[in-house]
This record gives sequence, structure tokens and C-alpha cells, in this order.
Amino acid sequence: MRKPIIAGNWKMYKTHEEAKRFAAEVRGLVPDAGQVDAVICAPALFLEQLVTETKGQNLHIGAQTMHEEDSGAFTGEISPVQLKDIGVEYIIIGHSERRQYFNETDESVNRKVKAALAHGLVPIMCVGETLEQRENGDTNRVVQEQVKAGLADISAADVQKTVIAYEPIWAIGTGKTATAEDANTVCQVIREKVAELSGQESADAVRIQYGGSVKPANIQELMGMEHIDGALVGGASLESESFLKLLEAGA
Ligand code: G3P
Repeated sequence: MRKPIIAGNWKMYKTHEEAKRFAAEVRGLVPDAGQVDAVICAPALFLEQLVTETKGQNLHIGAQTMHEEDSGAFTGEISPVQLKDIGVEYIIIGHSERRQYFNETDESVNRKVKAALAHGLVPIMCVGETLEQRENGDTNRVVQEQVKAGLADISAADVQKTVIAYEPIWAIGTGKTATAEDANTVCQVIREKVAELSGQESADAVRIQYGGSVKPANIQELMGMEHIDGALVGGASLESESFLKLLEAGA
């Protein structure tokens, strides 16, 4: 009932040529839209070329961050209007690396999620706990608070369009994956919070991804879990062969 969504987050990797090669290598091999939503969130520099190079395929392009205003004197920033204008469809908001290194807060995440929805971009809103929070038994509280703040004052219809990515910070790029059961438990906690905030229909519709050292070898088990509807993948999305395997497992 919820269509799986597998999204690659390239972070600050790849050159123009490498991005081009990736698009050529996956051409014609992406599973069709009835089975899975496939997304690549690329560095801003490559967004326009990737939109062009993937046209007509079930491979959608996303950005990794944006400003919440439509336009203005914000040197270095990119607006939702500009992303939409070049054909970008998805936007990662509140990735833990943005929260940690670029001062993003629950409040700015909420403003950006609203701006994305207002411009017809699909927000992939990231939440997740640190290792210390997990060890202190605070995981559920932390993600519940992030979900509540991030989705504040957003209509049920818009919540249903939003994708939530649960990325435990200690599992990102470390090779450590949450067990499928643990990841599923937290995704269930997130879904229950969405039900409380926005109603059961929203909770049933909202797609929740797991992210953190997802790779071809472990995606199947994660995708088999009731509350995990997809994956947000860093390292294993960089090579076309591995990305295609992730899509196959997700489809
Ligand atoms: O957004 C994806 C991410 O942070 C996970 O990265 O490299 O652990 O798959 P990685």
C-alpha cells in the first residue's frame, strides 16, 4: 500500500564526469514507477544535468538542502523556487550533518519542510538520535520531538506527501547498521507520533525510510520490516551497480 522509496544521498561526492557516467550506467535499468520511487539527491552543481540526463525514467532528482525563502540576499543559498524551476522534485531537509555542522534546528527544519511543500517539492525530513542519546535510552523521545517540531502546523494532506527518514547518527557512514528490528521499532514510534499529531490516515500514508550504512547486503532485511518503507543511502548509492541492486531489493 505504501510505495517503497529508495533515495541516494551523494553528499559532497562526485565530479561532473562521474555524475554523467552514473546517469549513463543506470539508463534503462531503473525498475518502473509502479514498483518503487527511485531518487538521487546530488550536489547542487549537478542537479540540472541529472534532471536532463534522467528524463523519461523513474529516476527522480533531489537536492540535499535549500533555503526556506523564495528569493533574497542569501549568498550561497538555493531556494525552493530555483530547485523547482530546473525540475528537481525532492529535497532532503534536516540531515544530521546539516544539523551538526550548519546549525539547522527543528525550527528551521519545520520552515523548510513547509517551504518545500508550498512549492511542490517532496521533503525527505531526517530525524535520528546520537549514540549518547541511544545509550541513555532517549531514542524514542528524541525522534518524537524532532517529528513533532518538524511537522508543526502542517496539514494532514501535506504530512502524507512528506517522507520521513530515520537515520540514527551513530550508524551513518560507520558501517554499523541498526538491527532491522531496532530500526523498525523506531520507525513504528515515528508512525505512532504521526498518528497522534496528524491522524491515523496520515500515519498509514506517510513513508518512513531507514538510513545508516544501508547496502545491498542488508537492504532486503530492512525492507521486510512493517514500518520501513524505504532507505536513504549514502555510500552505497555512489556506484551505479550498487544503487541498482538497492532499487531491485526495494521494488
Ligand atoms: O543520508 C544518508 C546517510 O546519512 C547514510 O549514509 O553512508 O551510512 O549510507 P551511509
